[in-house]
Amino acid sequence: MTQPSPARQSAAVASSDFIEADRAEVDSALYTLLPPESEPPSVIHRAMRYSVFAGGKRIRPILCIESARIFSRPPRGVLPVACALEFIHTYSLIHDDLPALDNDDLRRGRPTNHKVFGEAMAILAGDALLTRAFEVLASAELSAERRAALVREVATAAGTVGGMVGGQVADLEAGGKPIDASMLEYIHRSKTAALIRASVVSGAIAGGAQSEDVERLRRFGENIGLAFQVVDDILDVEESSATLGKTAGKDASQQKATYPALYGLDKSRETARSFLERAHEALAPFAARAQRLHAFADYLVARRT
Ligand code: IPE
Ligand code: IPE
Ligand code: MG
Ligand code: MG
Ligand code: MG
Repeated sequence: MTQPSPARQSAAVASSDFIEADRAEVDSALYTLLPPESEPPSVIHRAMRYSVFAGGKRIRPILCIESARIFSRPPRGVLPVACALEFIHTYSLIHDDLPALDNDDLRRGRPTNHKVFGEAMAILAGDALLTRAFEVLASAELSAERRAALVREVATAAGTVGGMVGGQVADLEAGGKPIDASMLEYIHRSKTAALIRASVVSGAIAGGAQSEDVERLRRFGENIGLAFQVVDDILDVEESSATLGKTAGKDASQQKATYPALYGLDKSRETARSFLERAHEALAPFAARAQRLHAFADYLVARRT
């Protein structure tokens, strides 16, 4: 294996305080971008806020912000874009937990949205978060050209052709059947890596990156997104529900198509590391400017929750 670059070595010793600082900034922006609970019809706004403020890691907004920061410091206009990605992600979790999908009772350490608000309201809260995301993106303070590019990027990533919904469909159809390696990679690329890639790419677009650099970050986002879902699969086997804030062991009990189910834990860890390595390589041209993204990529693979 090649030696870590100087940018990566200093990333390893760099403080990760920026993660907490970004998270706090995102949390307060999310707060102001959602209608208050008192706004009629109150129940839907309570349901939306319940899941958004249940304690997510905010990894997509942080990727977006730190990707933008490579090109402009501080990145102007990026915060609402970052929040829109968290709205879409939270919608995907609410729907993923529904009885018709993964049928989960626990999410972000709390009862799932449908357990508290009922299935009808959980479906509508997901729809509303998706809709609000595009309203926010369409209002982003960017050039019309950049705004259109990132709306298209995010819509494609959330959609059916290689996007999140397409991946969720394949995930459901693959359950309980013999696992096919190329289908497994397609599922992970679509259901999870697509939105993570779009988070990185939309940060680059919002930060003012030129197309060559956008493509480099696309490669980073794709690989860190794949690593992220392989780690999600591993943690489902290795960690407890209390640590994860969601039901552990769920994939095996539902016979999901996962990396540990097909390859075992050791090979899965190796696969996550090799996607991580490719992600780091994609950042090489940015040298020290990508220090935070290098550090955050390492965090995403080393995390235990
Ligand atoms: C969980 O995502 C669902 C996947 C796509 C693997 P996260 O692990 O980012 O969940 P939160 O946002 O921290 O709850
Ligand atoms: C979910 O994958 C991906 C989404 C699009 C929400 P999982 O079903 O593995 O996510 P968790 O483990 O429930 O968070
Ligand atoms: Mg699922
Ligand atoms: Mg699930
Ligand atoms: Mg999972």
